[in-house]
Amino acid sequence: MNKKPIVAGNWKMNKHPKEGFSFVDEIQDLLLDINHVSVIFAPPFTGLFEMNVNPPFYSAAQNCHWENSGAFTGEISVSMIKDCGANYVIIGHSENRQSGETDKLINLKIKSAIKSNLKVIFCIGETLQQKRKKITKQVLNKQIRFGLNKIKIKNNIILAYEPVWSIGTGVIPKKNELFETINFIKKKINKCKVLYGGSVNPKNIIVLKSIDNIDGFLIGGASQDPNKFIDIIKKTYN
Ligand code: PGA
Repeated sequence: MNKKPIVAGNWKMNKHPKEGFSFVDEIQDLLLDINHVSVIFAPPFTGLFEMNVNPPFYSAAQNCHWENSGAFTGEISVSMIKDCGANYVIIGHSENRQSGETDKLINLKIKSAIKSNLKVIFCIGETLQQKRKKITKQVLNKQIRFGLNKIKIKNNIILAYEPVWSIGTGVIPKKNELFETINFIKKKINKCKVLYGGSVNPKNIIVLKSIDNIDGFLIGGASQDPNKFIDIIKKTYN
C-alpha cells in the first residue's frame, strides 16, 4: 500500500444535496486529524455545489462533457465542475461505458479535464465474459491506449482498476491476480497511481490493503454508509 493512500467514494445516483453535505461534515469531523490519507467524495452533480471540503478531503464529479458549453442537454462541462470547487472527475466508469460511452469519448473527456487542471480518476476494467475468455490484459491495454491517446500523463491522472464483475457483486479478485493486474497497468503507464474498485468493504479491506502495489480504493456501496466508510478509511492507514 502506498504511503499516502487515496480513498474515494462514488455515491452514484444517491444522496440529495443536504444529506450529502451532512454526511461529508460528519466524516470530516470524525476524522479531524487524518493527514496520511486523501479522501475523495463523488456526489451526484447536484451535491457538488457548496460542498464544504478541506484537504485531505476533496470532491469529485462522477462524469463530465468534453465541450465547454453549447447545445448538450443534460450535460455538465469541466469548467462548471471546477466552479463548484471540485478537484477531480471520474471518467470511464463501467456503468457509463455500458450505456454507450466509447473509448473515443472517454479520451475527449480526459483531455478536456486535464486541460483545465481537473484531476482525472480514469476507470478501466474487464467484464466477466472477457475474464472468462482470458482477455483481461488485451481489454485493459485497449482501454488505456485509446483512453489516454495523445495525453501527457503527469500527476493529473489516477487509474482505477474496477473489474466489472466485481462491482456491486461482493466478489473481489484473488490477491495474486490483483497484484499482477495492477503491475501490468503500472508497467503500461509509468508513475501512475492505481486504485482498486469493486465491492470494497470493511472486511475485505484488510486483504486488499496488504497488496503492495495498490495506491488506494474507489468505493461505491460502502462509501455511502458513514460507519463503513470511516472503518475502511481507518483500516486503510492503520
Ligand atoms: P461497489 O462499486 O464498491 O459498490 O462495488 C464500485 C464502483 O462502482 O466504483
